[in-house]
Amino acid sequence: MPGGCSRGPAAGDGRLRLARLALVLLGWVSSTSLPSSASSSTSSASLPAPAASGQPPLPGRCPPPCECSEAARTVKCVNRNLTEVPADLPPYVRNLFLTGNQLAVLPAGAFARRPPLADLAALNLSGNRLREVDAGAFEHLPGLRQLDLSHNPLIDLSPFAFSGSNASVAAPSLLVELFLNRLEPPAAERQNRSFEGMVAAALRAGHALRGLHRLELASNQLLYLPRDALAQLPGLRHLDLRNNSLVSLTHVSFRNLTHLESLHLEGNALKVLRNGTLAELQSLPHVRVFLDDNPWVCDCHMPDMVAWLKETEVVQGKGRLTCAFPEKMRHRVLLELNSSDLDCDPILPPSLQTSYVFLGIVLALIGAIFLLVLYLNRKGIKKWMHNIRDACRDHMEGYHYRYEINADPRLTNLSSNSDV
Ligand SMILES: *[C@@H]1O[C@H](CO)[C@@H](O)[C@H](O)[C@H]1NC(C)=O
Ligand SMILES: *[C@@H]1O[C@H](CO)[C@@H](O)[C@H](O)[C@H]1NC(C)=O
Ligand SMILES: *[C@@H]1O[C@H](CO)[C@@H](O)[C@H](O)[C@H]1NC(C)=O
Ligand SMILES: *[C@@H]1O[C@H](CO)[C@@H](O)[C@H](O)[C@H]1NC(C)=O
Ligand SMILES: *[C@@H]1O[C@H](CO)[C@@H](O)[C@H](O)[C@H]1NC(C)=O
Ligand SMILES: *[C@@H]1O[C@H](CO)[C@@H](O)[C@H](O)[C@H]1NC(C)=O
Ligand SMILES: *[C@@H]1O[C@H](CO)[C@@H](O)[C@H](O)[C@H]1NC(C)=O
Ligand SMILES: *[C@@H]1O[C@H](CO)[C@@H](O)[C@H](O)[C@H]1NC(C)=O
Repeated sequence: MPGGCSRGPAAGDGRLRLARLALVLLGWVSSTSLPSSASSSTSSASLPAPAASGQPPLPGRCPPPCECSEAARTVKCVNRNLTEVPADLPPYVRNLFLTGNQLAVLPAGAFARRPPLADLAALNLSGNRLREVDAGAFEHLPGLRQLDLSHNPLIDLSPFAFSGSNASVAAPSLLVELFLNRLEPPAAERQNRSFEGMVAAALRAGHALRGLHRLELASNQLLYLPRDALAQLPGLRHLDLRNNSLVSLTHVSFRNLTHLESLHLEGNALKVLRNGTLAELQSLPHVRVFLDDNPWVCDCHMPDMVAWLKETEVVQGKGRLTCAFPEKMRHRVLLELNSSDLDCDPILPPSLQTSYVFLGIVLALIGAIFLLVLYLNRKGIKKWMHNIRDACRDHMEGYHYRYEINADPRLTNLSSNSDV
């Protein structure tokens, strides 16, 4: 409408004045009191056609538990103990904060409205005790760009949560940012099912997240990253895997993530990066990798990584990386190691090696002390043995006697009779 308005004067000033005169005559005083370069809201009213046939302005209601700002196009329903998504969300909403409630389940089409919430771009659902997100939960949100599902104990995330319930026809979501931090299912339910597999399935279903630029998966106790978890996210620029329990990246492929700019792997359980991973990271043109706070094991598997670290510009703060194991290498800076420092015990892994040596020493000490005590008490022990032998003999004789009595068939009959 502003376009039509600016074209008006260019086409013919006279005609516009004529129209305005007609409006004055019709009593549209409010619209004519403003100058010709009017602001958008009043200029639409000054154009006769849309004013006559246009729909009445939408009511812009605000659901009672929420706070709405039409100017900021923001609706906040925060910490209200809501158990479902409010039905009457105002259609202008662009940013929806639905946080700190008790939604528990997000069904299919939870945000489908008539008319659709076409402008909803940022949806924050963090801290809602969500356990289940169904297929197509975010259907009919064509403008959705940012979604935050963090801080929810998700045990049932549908593979089609982001892609729509009808996977064969669902237009790919245009999500750009997806936050899945601290999805903390209770430990018991987590053991039953692979949390990693569940998340990976939702990330690759139906190529729905091809446009994703940012993915945060921090603090999820991830033990591994499924092989193809990232295969359908070719647009990824920022991947945050901080504060998980990743032990190895050997089976993960970063090769297709050619736009990757940052890869956060701090606070995991990484022991070493192998040649394959090193080559993949090196091949990504823009990436910066963050590797702090991992328990690097400085043994015979480490030289490739050390050599790479010395060369590469990819790792941020590479001088801060230190060995955690084996004991003799602890706190040594990775960059300052040379291959003569790095060896393996041929039989035992080095972390076990130290503990076995320690265990051996302790056992030997205990044995020595035991022998010493025996030796010093040899006279007392002899006496004690005699006493024991005598006591045993007495006891055995008594036992023998009782056994004979018990074995007497008459007595056993007697006792069984007395039971009846
Ligand atoms: C939500 O529930 C909690 C606990 O039942 C209560 O303390 C709190 O006042 C409730 N908040 C609202 C906004 O009703
Ligand atoms: C969503 O809301 C939570 C709680 O208010 C906040 O910590 C988080 O930063 C928000 N997420 C985004 C993407 O803004
Ligand atoms: C998915 O969409 C196709 C084409 O519109 C339709 O034939 C099919 O029945 C739909 N499937 C489901 C499960 O709705
Ligand atoms: C564990 O999984 C089995 C089969 O998948 C299911 O029947 C059972 O209810 C699950 N247990 C829990 C505690 O979720
Ligand atoms: C790391 O994750 C655990 C849960 O997975 C959480 O309890 C802890 O607060 C997180 N630590 C940081 C520094 O975020
Ligand atoms: C990389 O992308 C190609 C083409 O898109 C695909 O065929 C291949 O499976 C992907 N590789 C990995 C490891 O994801
Ligand atoms: C890793 O690559 C380097 C050079 O690219 C090579 O010298 C080394 O043998 C490789 N290590 C393994 C374990 O294959
Ligand atoms: C390896 O380390 C030792 C001492 O730790 C040092 O004397 C030696 O020069 C180093 N070798 C190389 C090739 O850097």
